[in-house]
Amino acid sequence: MPEKCPFQFDLMNPVTYQKGIPFEYFKTLREQCPVALQDPSDANSDGDFWAITQRDDLDFVSKNPKIFSSREKLSHPQNGDDDPESMEIMRQLIINMDPPDHIKYRRVVRNAFTSKAVDALEPMMREFAKNIVDKVAAKGECEFVSTVAEEMPLFVICALMGLPSDQRQRFADQVDIMLGMDDPELSVSQEDGQTAAAELFGIAMELSAKHEADPKEGTVLHALLSGAVEGEHLNEFEFCSFFLILIAGGVETTRTATSQGMRVLMEHPEQLQMLVDDPSLIPDAIEEILRFYPPFIHMHRTAMEDVKVSDKEIKKGDKVVLFYPSVNHEEAVFGEDVDQFDILRTKRMPDLKNQHRTFGIGQHFCLGSHLARKELKVMFEEIIPRLRNPKLVGEPRNLMSNFVVGIKEMHITFDPEV
Ligand code: HEM
Repeated sequence: MPEKCPFQFDLMNPVTYQKGIPFEYFKTLREQCPVALQDPSDANSDGDFWAITQRDDLDFVSKNPKIFSSREKLSHPQNGDDDPESMEIMRQLIINMDPPDHIKYRRVVRNAFTSKAVDALEPMMREFAKNIVDKVAAKGECEFVSTVAEEMPLFVICALMGLPSDQRQRFADQVDIMLGMDDPELSVSQEDGQTAAAELFGIAMELSAKHEADPKEGTVLHALLSGAVEGEHLNEFEFCSFFLILIAGGVETTRTATSQGMRVLMEHPEQLQMLVDDPSLIPDAIEEILRFYPPFIHMHRTAMEDVKVSDKEIKKGDKVVLFYPSVNHEEAVFGEDVDQFDILRTKRMPDLKNQHRTFGIGQHFCLGSHLARKELKVMFEEIIPRLRNPKLVGEPRNLMSNFVVGIKEMHITFDPEV
């Protein structure tokens, strides 16, 4: 039996993250045992796991999908996923695929999300952002998550899929259900999660049927349903699975980055003022927001053979967990001031966007990274000049989750626009 790390931090327990990311735990692990065998928590009693907390190791694991499988026990196993039938369904999601299936599938869908394809969406996003801020600017106060942060990803996903934007609340509800399983306040059961997924599958099937009857070229929907690579198309089930991951992966993450970004900027008013004075700094600030407070806490892999990571012997079948907030705060990579939020970090580290691992790395590198960056840029370009002197009212209420550092509610005030 390999020796357990003497520092055990209950990293799989959603409660561990309720007051925010415990950076001090990760610092201890990086310094004392960067590849650390950890006990499971009650919430995830599926055996010990290796916590990966340094970037070189995270890169090694992420870039070797034949050794470290996303498929075997899924990249984000949840309670109940050990049922063979639901495992098989979950394995149809791109994020849970391994080579060679993963690469084939990714080639079919990736064209819809290139930087060029996303650039073409900017005017539409700007219109959305303007309308979102218009709705709150004169009020001088709002609940930021539901009225601002979640609106952009929902509008965008509806537009990409050719759905009327008044359906966006349906998606928001399903996402809350699928990601709210660990939060007792949301009292979501496993059945609720499955019903939410089925509801999204239903919407996807309607879309697919509509597209078949009346295909509209040049849309993301068309690229997904008609985009063949070497004669390969997505079949209906594959399309539905992809639709599910776009909603689950694209909405919660971007709304979290927007909410956490706003929170961090309000906590650093001098840096916020710099952005008011010089909005050209906003893309740099977004990169620092993504580094400083990444929305996803971790992803899982399963070792498919015995393998050494750093100085640890990992055995076939062992669980390996990649902790993104830890590697984004590694002193050896980002410097001694790594725990300080600094929108000017790119001045010292121009390559910051390729240094942090908020979007992962390797074969599963986030397919929506261009889209997410663009949504954040356009949104903050509208928020920063118009919601002036924003301040928190009370404490934000965090989602109870070991997977995403979501905020459920964040009330703010600002100078009403006249
Ligand atoms: C700030 C926002 C976002 C963050 C932090 C984020 C983060 C990530 C991470 C860390 C992965 C890698 C998972 C792994 O290695 O196991 C990933 C994969 C993925 N993301 Fe994102 N994501 C974001 C936004 C989006 C958006 C907007 C979309 C689409 C609309 C999206 C779609 C996907 C897909 C489809 C994958 C799976 C790719 C694959 O398996 O090849 N993400 N994301």
